Amino acid sequence: MKKVIHIVGARPNFMKVAPIHRAIAARTPLQQILIHTGQHYDVKMSDVFFSDLGLPAPDVHLGIGSGSHAQQTARTMVELEKVFLEHKPDLVSVVGDVNSTVAAALVSSKLAIPLAHVEAGLRSYSRHQPEEINRVVTDRLADLLLTPSRDADANLLKEGLEPDRIHFVGNVMIDSLLASKERAEQLPVLKSLGLAPHGYAVCTLHRPSNVDDPRVLGGLLSAIAHVASRIPVVFPVHPRTRKMISEQGLGSAFERNPNLRPVDPMGYLEFLALTSQARLILTDSGGLQEETTALGVPCLTLREQTERPITVEEGTNEVVGTDPDRIREAADRALNGQGKKGRVPEYWDGRSGERIADLFARFLSVEQGSLRAVSA
Ligand code: UD1
Repeated sequence: MKKVIHIVGARPNFMKVAPIHRAIAARTPLQQILIHTGQHYDVKMSDVFFSDLGLPAPDVHLGIGSGSHAQQTARTMVELEKVFLEHKPDLVSVVGDVNSTVAAALVSSKLAIPLAHVEAGLRSYSRHQPEEINRVVTDRLADLLLTPSRDADANLLKEGLEPDRIHFVGNVMIDSLLASKERAEQLPVLKSLGLAPHGYAVCTLHRPSNVDDPRVLGGLLSAIAHVASRIPVVFPVHPRTRKMISEQGLGSAFERNPNLRPVDPMGYLEFLALTSQARLILTDSGGLQEETTALGVPCLTLREQTERPITVEEGTNEVVGTDPDRIREAADRALNGQGKKGRVPEYWDGRSGERIADLFARFLSVEQGSLRAVSA
């Protein structure tokens, strides 16, 4: 039986792998092995996602943990090489742009194991962003480049990658969102936080460029406090951000403002319940820019650029940077009912996992019956 190894490591990976895993099990005779690198290890950053998304427990857990980029990537590579040599997969599938992604890409390529990259082709064109380096390297090495949007195809072609490696499959993360939304909204999350539907905002921050520099983080917190002077703002705080707020003594922003509500990182379903019914979202997350577009909720991206321009061109996203005045002004506009409206992009339809499963089966020549073409 042909074997596919999936790599997950960090929080944004889990909701991308779950629909692919499910579709492969339902539609192909492929054997699947799930490897968790352990890049994220807290229950709230990792374990809860497996139960929320119906993802089976990992077959192998590498326990890599935190460290510098070199340490984290190198440790992951050393451990993954052993696992790949033991299991001899026919295909390694990686998602997104975290350090676990690039580590797996390097190891599989050096062992001449075919590599698929789900969410290929996204570019911020800023090499200051560690994820950009991970994206460029992984795409260079992948045999199958599975893209979420047409702009990603164009980026890959511009870089000289062969057209027959590129397959537009749509946004697999939106498969998870559509499959979970109804269930999420039945949870008593709003009630337990004392919130009314569409009567609150949600904020997340975790990019090193936003949270590691106290001046930038202080400015962002002051803009968020302004939003909280108008409506409650729920702020699930990433461990990196929590550490920086405490080290830099920035916690007073919360003490002064009872409407600004820091909470622990949330599970997938709880967080979806919160975002799907929010009036406004402020974030530096890549995934959340896409989820808000799929949900039709206005999103202010607190970064200077996005690798997901389709969320701006077609969706509800506005890239507003990190200048507090500009954020305040955009938030006021959105809260006054002039938030960005949008439509859902092509192939963000809940069926990307199926397209990927069919493509893997065809690539490994194990398809049964007729498979429809997956790339346009
Ligand atoms: C990583 C990804 C980023 C992704 C983000 C989602 C890279 C380069 N970055 O960033 O693309 O958007 O995950 O969260 O891969 N920590 C904990 N518990 C955990 C995990 C981390 O406390 O379970 C703390 C540690 O102090 C750690 C810090 O968070 O040093 C940063 O974790 P790390 O995995 O290095 O990167 P993220 O900032 O989470």
